[in-house]
Amino acid sequence: MTTTPAERTATSTERRTGVTEDLHLVDLGKEFEAFTAVHPLNLTVPGGTFFALLGPSGCGKTTTLRMVAGLEEPTTGHIRIGDKDITAAKAYQRNVNTVFQSYALFPHMNVLDNVMFGLKRRGDKDAKRKAQEVLSLVELAEVARKKPTQLSGGMQQRVALARAIVNRPDVLLLDEPLGALDLKLRRQMQIELKRIQSDVGLTFIHVTHDQEEAMTMADTIAVMNAGRVEQLGDPAALYERPATTFVANFLGQSNLLEGTLTGTRPDGLVTAQVHGHEVLVDASRVPEDIKDVWIGVRPEKLRLGDQGQNVLRGSVTDASFTGVATHYLVRMPWGHEITLVQQNDGSPRRSVGENVDVSWDAGYEFVLDQQQDEDAGIGRDDE
Ligand SMILES: Nc1ncnc2c1ncn2[C@@H]1O[C@H](COP(=O)(O)OP(=O)(O)O)[C@@H](O)[C@H]1O
Ligand SMILES: [Mg+2]
Repeated sequence: MTTTPAERTATSTERRTGVTEDLHLVDLGKEFEAFTAVHPLNLTVPGGTFFALLGPSGCGKTTTLRMVAGLEEPTTGHIRIGDKDITAAKAYQRNVNTVFQSYALFPHMNVLDNVMFGLKRRGDKDAKRKAQEVLSLVELAEVARKKPTQLSGGMQQRVALARAIVNRPDVLLLDEPLGALDLKLRRQMQIELKRIQSDVGLTFIHVTHDQEEAMTMADTIAVMNAGRVEQLGDPAALYERPATTFVANFLGQSNLLEGTLTGTRPDGLVTAQVHGHEVLVDASRVPEDIKDVWIGVRPEKLRLGDQGQNVLRGSVTDASFTGVATHYLVRMPWGHEITLVQQNDGSPRRSVGENVDVSWDAGYEFVLDQQQDEDAGIGRDDE
């Protein structure tokens, strides 16, 4: 069964006595001396949702999180949870917890004591029951009596997570929490984290430079670039309709074809010239008032063969078999190499040097202003 973020919020709200409030960042900005790390940004994170801040190293993600946590004083703006302004509140006064990449568990305490620690210090009579509950939620009930050092990295990270959610913070901040784990474990933890978030119904804000991680987990992603939110949306919307070349290149791969719009046909499709070839695009994809465009097509939207509304001919310069798919590079007559991904569904494989048709249908493209830098966001996610 799938639930929308709204439904998820509703059920989690029923389960709790309180309400999962929205987090509002209002004109929130941060300058370090003359350097602007975060330009005044406006963002609402709906209560009970999984929200990701995604962007390359140095774009201001951690600074934004630290302002929400109360660890960094904003230069401008406000932070509200629901109607409550917390801008001036000290870190310990905010009902906000953070999970970092390093687990910072107490090595001499067992897992249960680590998770109970904060609650007991605050004199919570129910500390043990709450800690046990949250340990079963993260599937660590069996290791409650073990010391952190006896656990794997992934398990330790789950202990840190249990400790951070046991007192039900209004917002849980996660700063690249999976960065230290190897790829396979990271993929596992991504699914786990998402499940836990939807079970507890708390607001999670997850910072990452890994686009696949953000897309796998988040209900909503804010893509940040140089201290600004460049686009906000759900993963599919960002992927299918990137608003800038930066988003198009940073989230997955894009082929950007240089085109000029030439007119609208009676059937509503817009015609464009791409290096002397006519290409059709969906009118709803075309921004207003521009003629010179990038026509963006994702590699998996392209097919080999001439069975599409748009056909370009080129020659294969690389064919890499990856098991589930084959990745092709096809050089166009004007020198540009197009990336194409063909599912390994039994269709014939092509070899280097072969001349091939590359085709796609109108409506599978996105159209951007050619004034934007075609290389924006390329090769910057390799922290
Ligand atoms: N305390 C600081 N003093 C000066 N510059 C800082 C400080 N903290 C962060 N910065 C700068 O602000 C920018 C954003 O940093 P950060 O928020 O850590 O980025 P991210 O988490 O996206 O990698 C970087 O250029 C970084 O060098
Ligand atoms: Mg960071």
